Amino acid sequence: MIKKTLDEKAFQLLKEKMEQGLFPQWVLTDPDIYELEIDKIFGHTWQFLAHETELKDSGSYVTRWMVNDPVLLVKNRKGEIKGYLNSCTHRGTQLCTADHGNKKNFTCPYHGWSYNLDGELIGIVAGNKVYGEEMDKSEWGLREIPQVASYQGMIFGCLDPVAMPLEEYLGDMKWYFDILLGRSDGGMEVRGLPQRWVAKANWKATAENFAADPYHVQTTHRSTVELGISPEDPLYAGYGHQIVTENGHGINVITSKTGKARVPYQGTPESMWPMFKKNLTPEQDEILSGVTVFVGGVYPNLSFVSPIHGTEGHLHNYLNFRMWRPIGPEKVEVWCWFLIDKAAPEEYKEAAYRGYLGSFGPTGTLEQDDTETWARIVEVSKGLMMRDKELNYNNVSNYLMGFDRVEPDQSFPGPGIAYPTTYLDAISRSMHENWFKLISKDLFVKEAVK
Ligand code: FES
Ligand SMILES: [Fe+2]
Repeated sequence: MIKKTLDEKAFQLLKEKMEQGLFPQWVLTDPDIYELEIDKIFGHTWQFLAHETELKDSGSYVTRWMVNDPVLLVKNRKGEIKGYLNSCTHRGTQLCTADHGNKKNFTCPYHGWSYNLDGELIGIVAGNKVYGEEMDKSEWGLREIPQVASYQGMIFGCLDPVAMPLEEYLGDMKWYFDILLGRSDGGMEVRGLPQRWVAKANWKATAENFAADPYHVQTTHRSTVELGISPEDPLYAGYGHQIVTENGHGINVITSKTGKARVPYQGTPESMWPMFKKNLTPEQDEILSGVTVFVGGVYPNLSFVSPIHGTEGHLHNYLNFRMWRPIGPEKVEVWCWFLIDKAAPEEYKEAAYRGYLGSFGPTGTLEQDDTETWARIVEVSKGLMMRDKELNYNNVSNYLMGFDRVEPDQSFPGPGIAYPTTYLDAISRSMHENWFKLISKDLFVKEAVK
């Protein structure tokens, strides 16, 4: 039994279990593990903040969170996107309290200090009278988020100034982002505001559910079969490929029994297909023309899904990005974006948005199904007997699916390690291995003897 402590012996035991493909269930809700994760995972990896279309003009801003760090993301006069810690340098209160908007300057609601779009302190109420001449305003600007970068319009931040650059971190996932986000002229745009709500869940379980687990679809979302939206075939979400890329990222390219989609190009208007072909490589085009659903994740806490929705003659496709912000070992704040091709016809965008609200939005049927399961995982993972109960991802239960049995498909046209089914645990294993690598980094390193 692994003791619920974080001493060196416990970590050795955890390591042995992980090497056997076993993932102890207690780590899903343990408060000490959670603290380690905040520091060692979220303090060093890239986290999604916003899409560039949320910051259209100079002065546009949104406020976001990187776990517990409040972020003010602003477009400055030069058109650069800057990220600041959303906390006043005077007495520390939250500087900008709105979710989004447009401003020339940010004035603190507490004592009125104001900052420009470059984070510089430009105004102090009664400055000369209160502080005299000695106050050097240039020393009291806003703290910058150490790294902010974007790829295909997706803006990410990183709290570690020496972490690898975003593009290196995304690695082969960029090739798939080029399909999801770069297929149309003008790229994608966010429609509406990101919706957010709190779910009883652990972030590892929600991230895995999206990025790595098409196997749950046939059971958890059984109602879609009963409504005639999904096929009766119990393997229907398993056809296609599961692709593992670097750093715990992965994507599932779900097709159908025939290896092709029900409809070409995910039910998008035919008028858009030549544009897709023009913007993609032949290999990317081959994948997009035949896919039914893309679903995957960027480690640690960004997931995405690009499905086909609707009924014959009224099909549409959209892209949903969701960020799982941990707010405790048993809670996540879900941030959910709807993205659509900027170049799509207006009525198509509107129909797709309504489809999203009814499926993966906060009131969507698919969302409700998943939320209930996540809450129950949290609920049952805290008991004494859980301390020696492991979840399997070697080769005896569903977590071992495909282990040593399914070989990578060398003929798959995209990068990464591609397995010829999505009912397996290749991405789950990669995520959990990455989790352990990150949380155990620099732990129990003996001090050099002086
Ligand atoms: S806390 Fe912002 S001006 Fe005092
Ligand atoms: Fe689901």
